[in-house]
Amino acid sequence: MSVSVKDVAARAGVSIGTVSNVMNRPDKVSASTVERVQRAIDELGFVRNDAARQLRAGRSMAIGLVILDVGNPFFTDLARGAEDKAAESGLSIILGNSDERAARETTYLELFEQQRVHGVLISPFGDITDRLHRLRDRGIPAVLVDRTSADVSFSSVSVDDVAGGSLAVEHLIDTGRHRIAFVGGPHAIRQVADRLEGARATVARHPGVTLEVIETAALSVIEGRAAGVAIRERSAAERPDAVFAANDLIAMGVLQALNMQGVLHVPHDIALIGYDDIDFASAAVVPMSSIRQPSAMIGGTAVEILLEEAADPTLAPRQIVFQPELVIRESTS
Ligand code: RIB
Repeated sequence: MSVSVKDVAARAGVSIGTVSNVMNRPDKVSASTVERVQRAIDELGFVRNDAARQLRAGRSMAIGLVILDVGNPFFTDLARGAEDKAAESGLSIILGNSDERAARETTYLELFEQQRVHGVLISPFGDITDRLHRLRDRGIPAVLVDRTSADVSFSSVSVDDVAGGSLAVEHLIDTGRHRIAFVGGPHAIRQVADRLEGARATVARHPGVTLEVIETAALSVIEGRAAGVAIRERSAAERPDAVFAANDLIAMGVLQALNMQGVLHVPHDIALIGYDDIDFASAAVVPMSSIRQPSAMIGGTAVEILLEEAADPTLAPRQIVFQPELVIRESTS
C-alpha cells in the first residue's frame, strides 16, 4: 500500500494542503514546518524521489490533457479553452490523443505520471479509476472532461448528454418527423450511450414515433458516410424520415452520403441533426442543426478546478454539468 499525502500530513501534524505546499511551494511555508514535513516524508518513504525532485525543481508547469479524438474539432476547441485558461497561470498543455483506444490512453497516463505533470485532464475511454487514484497518491490531481465521473471522488466538467439527446429528438418530432434513426457509436463511449438514452426516453413519450438504432464503429465522418449510404440504398418506405447523429462528424458523413447522386435531399426527404455544433456544422453544404456543447468553457472550467485541487488536495470533488443548447439550421427546417 503506497504512502499517501494524508499519511505524511498525519505524521507531521499538519494539513494535507501544507504537505502539498511544502512539495510545490516551500517558499510559502515556514522553515520549521518544511523541516517537519520533510522528516515525515523521509520516515514514511513517501515517493521520496518524486517529492525530492519536486522540492528541487518545483511542480511541473505542464498539464496533461488526454482527449478521445484529435481529429474531432470538439476536442480541439476544448483543448484551446483549457490552453487559454492554463496560460493565465503560466502553465502549458501537453495534448494526448487516446484515439478511443484504452492502450493508448494508458500510455499517456503513464507518461504524464513520469513527467510529474501539474495535473491531468482526461475524456476517458476505458476504466481509468485506479490509475487516477494512483496519480492522486503521487500528488497529481485529475479532472474528467466531457464525462461525469462514475467514481465521484474525482471532479468532472461535462454536459448533460441525456438532456442533449432528448433535445435533439424533441426538435425532430416538433418538425413532424416520426421515423427517427440514431446513428453513432460505439455505444461503449458514455457520451454516445447518454445521448441514445435521452433519445429513447423522448420517443417513449411520443406514441407513433419510432427509433431505429444504427451503431457505428467510431464517431467519424467515414462511419457516418457508410451509415448514410446504407440508408440511401433502402426503399423509400424503409428509410427513416430523420437522423439524429451522435456527433457532428457522423452527421457530416450522413449528409455527404444522402446528398450524393442528387436522389435524396436534406431536410426535405430526411431531416438531420448532429451534436457538438463544431464550426463545420454551420459551414456544411446544408447548414447543420446541432446540439451545442460549450467546448471551450468545458476545457477552461476543468483547468480552473484542477489548479484549485493542485493547490489544496483536501478540496471536495465537484461535478460541473453544463446544459446543451439546440441550434436550428437548414438541415431540420
Ligand atoms: O468523441 C466523443 C463525442 O463526445 C464528441 O463528438 C463530443 O460530442 C463528445 O462529447
